[in-house]
Amino acid sequence: LKRNSRWLMMLYLLLPKSALGLEEPLRLAPLPAASELETLSKQYWQYLACKVWQEGCGKEEKSSPGPGWSLPLVGQDYLEILSTWYCSFGKCCETGDCRIINNITGLELDLHEQLHGQHLAKEVVIRAVRGFLQSPQPQKALVLSFHGWSGTGKNFVARMVAAHLYRDGLRSECVRVFIALFHFPHHNYVDSYKVQLEKQIRETMQHCQQSLFIFDEAEKLHFGLLDVIKPFMARSDKGQKDNRRSIFLFLSNIGGSAINEVTLGFLRAGRAREEIPMELLEQQLRLEMLQLAGRSRVLHHLLEENLVDFFVPFLPLEYHHVKLCARDAFLARGLPYTEAALDEVASMMVFVPKEEKLFSAQGCKSVSQRINYFLP
Ligand SMILES: *[C@@H]1O[C@H](CO)[C@@H](O)[C@H](O)[C@H]1NC(C)=O
Repeated sequence: LKRNSRWLMMLYLLLPKSALGLEEPLRLAPLPAASELETLSKQYWQYLACKVWQEGCGKEEKSSPGPGWSLPLVGQDYLEILSTWYCSFGKCCETGDCRIINNITGLELDLHEQLHGQHLAKEVVIRAVRGFLQSPQPQKALVLSFHGWSGTGKNFVARMVAAHLYRDGLRSECVRVFIALFHFPHHNYVDSYKVQLEKQIRETMQHCQQSLFIFDEAEKLHFGLLDVIKPFMARSDKGQKDNRRSIFLFLSNIGGSAINEVTLGFLRAGRAREEIPMELLEQQLRLEMLQLAGRSRVLHHLLEENLVDFFVPFLPLEYHHVKLCARDAFLARGLPYTEAALDEVASMMVFVPKEEKLFSAQGCKSVSQRINYFLP
């Protein structure tokens, strides 16, 4: 009974909110009277008991709550909400938290199949994330800095990491995405951004055994915000607090030109991009980042303070990579494609440099929208 009344209270808290973290509020009918709620909560308790412990299934199926508002609630979605919420207390999964899936094999597989032309990024990300998650007591958060032109896959990889570490991917309450110009657009408000950001990071870390923070357009982050982020990434001799783990990804197009030049050099020399060694790129990236104190103090500082564990270079994409992106876009929509259609999509892109036209200036960006032209 005590359990039930706790549930009753929890349902009150739960129902009006969007527990899934959807942008739009869930469209629920007004809250029911307390008696109806009690019936309902019993019913949900049974659903849950059945789902989580495989007990009490099929009992009292007839006790139906009042009509009208109850029906739309009895769907799979709500079951999901409840068990998500229940599981958030870490009681029903082997890992102690079933929102966290840490499917590294899947990440490896999907990167292998869907990330084109990025042998280094693929390798570094897998190695870094796997190593970090396997280490029994990491001394600090894992910090990765993604570099490359737009459309080369930085966002794509960040999304994939989220999707393979968390059941709900980017929608997980343990994943926070901050886009510099979107979330922190006005320099005048930096002080209030700092307060908000600190609160969000702290709360996420408290709530989640493992959290993921993605900073997009990191080169445009106001320097003041780094004061807030830094303590959360810093080394601690006692390991991360309570064995909690956090991963920080910084995405920027800084270093893009250095990466492109190295790649161009290799291709011009008749060598394959796969021959480009990480050491060479890392060296170039560091050089470029050290020079940009004026342009992005945040990245400059991350480097100077040795806060970045791994640099992840994204190489410029060639014609045949764009075709592969187009193929993926057709496949993702379950549409048939022809070689000619792939060629046509790829040739819509602008290629640089002027002489050789080797690299797609926009990478694979908007390729998936471009296939709309070929829809029947
Ligand atoms: C891991 O990811 C792969 C590839 O996306 C997927 O097929 C597989 O079902 C996932 N496994 C788990 C346990 O989620």
